[in-house]
Amino acid sequence: MRKIHSYLLVILLSTMFFSCKESTFHEGRFFAGGVYATADQLNDGKIVYLEYCVSCHGFEGDGNGVSAKGLFPPPRNFKLGIYKFGNVVAGELPHDKTLHKIIRHGLNGTPMLQWDMSKEQVYNVIQYIKTFAPKAWEGKGKKLGEELVVSKDPYGPSHKSLAVQKGKEVYHLIAQCQSCHRAYASKKELNQISLKVNNEEMTEFDEDMYKIKLQESEHGYKVLPPDFTFHSLRSVGTMKEKPGIKDPERIALNDLYLRLLAGAGGAAMPSWKDVLQDNEIWAVAYYVRYLQTFTKDQGKRKKFLDSIEKN
Ligand code: HEC
Ligand code: HEC
Repeated sequence: MRKIHSYLLVILLSTMFFSCKESTFHEGRFFAGGVYATADQLNDGKIVYLEYCVSCHGFEGDGNGVSAKGLFPPPRNFKLGIYKFGNVVAGELPHDKTLHKIIRHGLNGTPMLQWDMSKEQVYNVIQYIKTFAPKAWEGKGKKLGEELVVSKDPYGPSHKSLAVQKGKEVYHLIAQCQSCHRAYASKKELNQISLKVNNEEMTEFDEDMYKIKLQESEHGYKVLPPDFTFHSLRSVGTMKEKPGIKDPERIALNDLYLRLLAGAGGAAMPSWKDVLQDNEIWAVAYYVRYLQTFTKDQGKRKKFLDSIEKN
């Protein structure tokens, strides 16, 4: 009788084990960017994944873990091989370095927390999650996106107010970020900006100008463009370990600059590289950073938004 029990137990355990996407790895794999992971690294990565990540990202890597219910945004579906916060032009594959940063520092305002794991564990789990999307990642010839880097900030703290003013003009007139996000200027101000930048009056205004608009995405759900005076920005202010940079404001501005340059993969937010000039991207980064100051004071925020929408 006892024998039958342990026999059943073995069957049960092995079905549980083999029902995971990959059982044990016996061979290494080549991934995009010339990265080679050994079978040992992949097996170790899987152990890390089952311990720390599976509850949200799921056994199949599809983002349907037991704790995923009700989460918005939902955990990433790794089977798609699409990443939002790589420092590469939206849609391209991110570098291990960036995935490392995301896993070690988490994504602000989401249940994707900072994972306190060794460098090796992070490296191995990164390689393991790639195996959920073999079409995107596997093969010797596969390429990663070109890594985007922070350029020299043409403004700096002494020209902050100039940058914020310029950023407001670029945001509303040149880039029209309010077509997805919302506007943060009154009609009167927009008219003034239009006269200054385009030398013409602005007479027609989009009636949805002060609303944020849900967007279609490639992730299988609609994505919400953040209201910068309300939401936390997931990929901004997370470069805590960046050597030589201690100033949190500098880190946030650099992260914002990179996000605007890169966009958010598969999530409607476009890359502004080669669309806006570099100094315009910096100006918008300062402007968004300014808007974020309202997140700390809801009373002040309400006053600010009311005064805009009334005038
Ligand atoms: C409590 C739930 C939860 C756990 C546990 C969790 N994550 Fe996440 N993870 C999320 C959510 C939610 C997102 C999506 C955030 C978004 O779309 O803005 C995410 C996104 C990601 C992304 C995508 C980043 C990008 O640029 O698109 C990676 C990579 C990731 N997680 C890796 C991991 C790893 C590795 C672990 C385990 C060490 C882990 N996560 C554990 C909830 C979780
Ligand atoms: C076509 C629609 C669209 C346009 C245009 C657009 N965005 Fe976005 N943006 C989005 C969406 C959608 C998200 C959220 C993606 C998600 O949650 O998956 C987003 C996210 C962001 C984020 C947050 C990233 C994070 O870390 O959480 C920033 C910052 C941002 N946008 C700034 C801008 C600025 C500034 C402009 C104009 C220069 C702009 N966006 C234009 C759709 C857009």
